[in-house]
Amino acid sequence: MASSMLNRADNLTHFRGVTPTGLGFLGSDFHGKRISKMGLVSSLSVSRNGTIVAPKCSLSASRPVSQPRFIQHKKEAFWFYRFLSIVYDHVINPGHWTEDMRDEALEPADLSDRNMIVVDVGGGTGFTTLGIVKHVDAKNVTILDQSPHQLAKAKQKEPLKECKIIEGDAEDLPFPTDYADRYISAGSIEYWPDPQRGIKEAYRVLKLGGKACLIGPVYPTFWLSRFFADVWMLFPKEEEYIEWFQKAGFKDVQLKRIGPKWYRGVRCHGLIMGCSVTGVKPASGDSPLQLGPKAEDVTKPVNLFSFLTRFILGCMAATYYVLVPIYMWLKDQIVPKGQPI
Ligand SMILES: C[S@@+](CC[C@H](N)C(=O)[O-])C[C@H]1O[C@@H](n2cnc3c(N)ncnc32)[C@H](O)[C@@H]1O
Repeated sequence: MASSMLNRADNLTHFRGVTPTGLGFLGSDFHGKRISKMGLVSSLSVSRNGTIVAPKCSLSASRPVSQPRFIQHKKEAFWFYRFLSIVYDHVINPGHWTEDMRDEALEPADLSDRNMIVVDVGGGTGFTTLGIVKHVDAKNVTILDQSPHQLAKAKQKEPLKECKIIEGDAEDLPFPTDYADRYISAGSIEYWPDPQRGIKEAYRVLKLGGKACLIGPVYPTFWLSRFFADVWMLFPKEEEYIEWFQKAGFKDVQLKRIGPKWYRGVRCHGLIMGCSVTGVKPASGDSPLQLGPKAEDVTKPVNLFSFLTRFILGCMAATYYVLVPIYMWLKDQIVPKGQPI
């Protein structure tokens, strides 16, 4: 039976130990009552007095995870970041991923000892790693990313000079089993063609008692945002994260809601950085979950026309998500504080 606790009534919520019964599982609402089917957790919002309010936006089923979106593909993600890395830290991050959000999202990771071995998977330009090295010695931290262009930016950052910086794939990590005390991954899962495989890898590389902290997007419920999210990349529902963690073998799975302050808790447009999910590895060794071979073969030649069409459509959808935080920021400026936006 799931229990949950409200942290900050406007936009921070923890869910614990929801029992999955496949996608569209029976979950639990914030008061421990059972709720049925189809992504209700992500469609609920919490009012200022902590009660659950019905969504203003309509519900629908997301595209299945097995149907990758336009930039949920390693080669496409590679080219996307070939260009995005130029403006990532200064233009993209401020709308979606602020230092305050990062620190709140890392809090459940419990970075309590400077000697911990930490891997930051999909670490990119090192924005999240800068939050990690506040708590852990940089020499114990490895930043892994598939984009050399993103990593080149991380290499330039003074506080990350002692970190190990390596190219690699989140779904096939180059670390031994039972290696790290903490696995962190922020804003990367949305590009993984097989997110369950990435989370299984998180489990494998952790030591017994180690903790994974995965920060990622949440699925929108407003129709237009949902359309662009489905075109662009993976925006999982909150219960999907919990299910992936539990299937990988994690225990004490918790989900904390995060979001930019100027959204005032609004979640119906989805969020690029919408939750921080944590789980503890209860036994040493590999994950109990068995998966077949990787679905995506990155060595397979691609059809250039289809690649470019997908890539351009994906980039157009991404542009919508550059505009949403600006729209929310303007609303926050215009609507008096204390009023819902
Ligand atoms: C939105 S950025 C997040 C970067 C950083 N974690 C942060 O908090 O700013 C996503 C990163 O995930 C990386 N990425 C995407 N797919 C990956 C994969 N399969 N393996 C490793 N990194 C991947 C991208 O190259 C990109 O740097």
